[in-house]
Amino acid sequence: MSQKEIIEEIQRLKKEKNAVILAHNYQREEIQEVADIIGDSLDLSRKAQNIEKDIIVFAGVKFMAETAKILSPEKKVLLPHPDATCEMADMVTREDVIRLKKEHPDAQVVCYVNTYADVKAECDICCTSRNAANVVKSLEAEEIIFIPDRNLANYVQKQVPEKKIIPFDGYCYVHDELITVKDVILQKEKHKDAPVITHPEAREEVLKISDYVASTNGMIKVIKEVDAKEFIIATEIDMTTRLKREFPDKTFYPASKNAICRGMKTITLESIYRSLKDEVYEITLPDEIIKKAKDAILKMIAIS
Ligand code: 13P
Ligand code: SF4
Repeated sequence: MSQKEIIEEIQRLKKEKNAVILAHNYQREEIQEVADIIGDSLDLSRKAQNIEKDIIVFAGVKFMAETAKILSPEKKVLLPHPDATCEMADMVTREDVIRLKKEHPDAQVVCYVNTYADVKAECDICCTSRNAANVVKSLEAEEIIFIPDRNLANYVQKQVPEKKIIPFDGYCYVHDELITVKDVILQKEKHKDAPVITHPEAREEVLKISDYVASTNGMIKVIKEVDAKEFIIATEIDMTTRLKREFPDKTFYPASKNAICRGMKTITLESIYRSLKDEVYEITLPDEIIKKAKDAILKMIAIS
C-alpha cells in the first residue's frame, strides 16, 4: 500500500471502529498528521477520558497508554508497537519502590508519570515535569522519595530546598546523554537571538545554560509568551515538528539532532494501521493496580 492508501485506510478504520488516535509531541510528522489530538503524556490521557470513543490508539510509549487505560478503564486502549517503551520507565520496578519505602519509612513517594502502572500503585502521588515541584511542596513529609528521574529530582530539589529529596538513579538517555552542553553552546553560537528551552530531564549543566526549563506542553506556553522569532529546543528531535505545526511563522532549531527516542520512533503509519485493523496491542491491567495507580494520578490532578 502507498502512504496515501494507508492514511485512507486509517481514516476509514477510525470511523468504522469509533476510534481516536492520540499522539505524543515526540511522534513523527506523518503520525502527527493522522492524530486527532497531540499533546504531552498527561494531557492526552486526561483528554481521552472525555472522548466518546470505544477505542484509543495511543501513539506514544507504553506508560502513556497505561495512563490512558487507568483513567479510562472502560475503553480499549491500543499501543501500536510492542517495543514502544520508555527506557527510563523500564529502569524502576515495583520491588525498587517497596525496598526504598522500607529504607525510608518516614518518606512519601512521588513517581513521575514516566513509570508503569504497578510502580504508580506503590506511590503516594504522581507528578509530571510540569507540576513536580508543586506536587512535592503539597506533601506533609520532609523526606520525599522521587522516582525514577535523577535529573528531574535534582531540578525539583533546587526549587523545594525545604524538603530532602531522595532520588532514584534513573534517567532518560535522550536528555541525559544525547543533549550535551557542547551541543547547546554550538546552537547558541549559530543562533545568537534564539532563547534555549530545555526539558527538565536534561542534566543540570544543560539547564544552567538554558533560558527556560519546561515540559513539552510547557514549551508551547513559553513560545506563546516570549517575544522571539526563533528558539533552540533541547528535547527529543520531533518536538520541533510539533512546534512548527503550532507556530508556522517561527523557527525552531533542535539542540541536538541525535536526540531521538527509540521507543517513540517504533511507531509508524503502518503500525497504526495494523493496530486499528487487528486491535493490537491491547493494554490490560489488573483492577487492583488500576485502582491504586488511579488514586496517585487523581491526587496529582487535584493539586495541579
Ligand atoms: P512530557 O510529559 O513533557 O510530554 O514528557 C514526556 C517525556 O517522555 C519526556 O521525555
Ligand atoms: Fe522515555 Fe526519554 Fe523517550 Fe521520554 S524521551 S519517552 S523519557 S526514553
